[in-house]
Amino acid sequence: MDLLNHIKQNARNNKKRIVLPESFEERTLKAADILLSEDLAEIILIGQPEKLNKKAKKLELINLSKATVINPENHSKEREYSEIMVELRKSKGLTKNQALSLLKDPLYLATLLIKSGDADGEVAGADNSTGDVLRPAFQYIKTIPGVNVVSGAFLMILKNKSFGQNGVMVFADCAVNPNPTAEQLAEIAVSSAKTAKSIAGIDPRIAMLSFSTKGSAKHEMVDKVCTAADIAKKIDPTLQIDGEFQVDAAIVEAVAKKKAPGSEIAGNANVLVFPSLESGNIAYKLVERLAGAVALGPILQGLAAPVNDLSRGCSVNDIVNLVAITANQASGY
Ligand code: ACO
Repeated sequence: MDLLNHIKQNARNNKKRIVLPESFEERTLKAADILLSEDLAEIILIGQPEKLNKKAKKLELINLSKATVINPENHSKEREYSEIMVELRKSKGLTKNQALSLLKDPLYLATLLIKSGDADGEVAGADNSTGDVLRPAFQYIKTIPGVNVVSGAFLMILKNKSFGQNGVMVFADCAVNPNPTAEQLAEIAVSSAKTAKSIAGIDPRIAMLSFSTKGSAKHEMVDKVCTAADIAKKIDPTLQIDGEFQVDAAIVEAVAKKKAPGSEIAGNANVLVFPSLESGNIAYKLVERLAGAVALGPILQGLAAPVNDLSRGCSVNDIVNLVAITANQASGY
């Protein structure tokens, strides 16, 4: 079974409750219909029921009647959720009225559903920016204890199966942290190893990327990547991690032999940690477009419960796939 089908089968077996706050959005509704018809998740839509029913009829989405619909204008747990919000944001001085008003925003309501155990995960971003999707998650779902930084990984399914593990690689951070510190890069490496194992089912071999291989260039940006590799090893001494590498040394054996002889990772890395968001974001899009790879994600790693952000250019299929991945994360895969 290929990776995507495996992820979908796991989702089907566990039937997690995934909230889609952008129910006014046509691709989201079409995806919800497919998810329900394929039994991949229980779907919670946030929106006004009448408007939603009208749209479902117009689009002939017959499975949407199986979704739970929550109206942000008239919600039975509003009071309970607002109290949780005030408690979680008391250091920021959030008042009850401010909390009640934030709860009218589907993106905030979605995170409160998760925080209070009424949903298992969220997918949004077909209509909202990354920042607008992530901020409520950072503020109310927060990070896993011991983790300080949330980052975004992509599962790259390559046509050329000689790269990565049978053509599967993990790229990070491609979505969140514009200019990570060495400590943050180290955490991104540790989280990416977990994503590689649990979602992609691969044995992580992590390359910390740079424009230098093993000291070929001297620069503070190179030093940061080396320090990050050292910190990551301290956080998890079992990690298979090395760097700094140029990307060809990380993934091409012949180049690795020349540039990084003796490295156990160089030449066949399957998890690539990029030094900045610019490089990670550009790299995944280039590999997707020029090499025809399937890019699944971004999968947000480090949050205490799964919230995933779509690109505003996403397709219906992208939403279906990301919901299946979110359900896998919620099941602890
Ligand atoms: N991990 C964990 N928590 C974080 C992180 C992080 N990476 N970043 C911010 N936070 C927390 C902060 O600590 C803060 O918490 P607090 O309110 O409890 O103090 C809260 O989130 C808000 O922090 P700000 O610094 O005010 O965050 P801001 O909203 O300015 O920025 C954001 C966060 C939106 C994620 C920003 O880093 C960003 O814009 N990143 C780039 C996103 C992007 O455009 N990606 C590319 C597109 S995605 C794609 O192509 C796949």
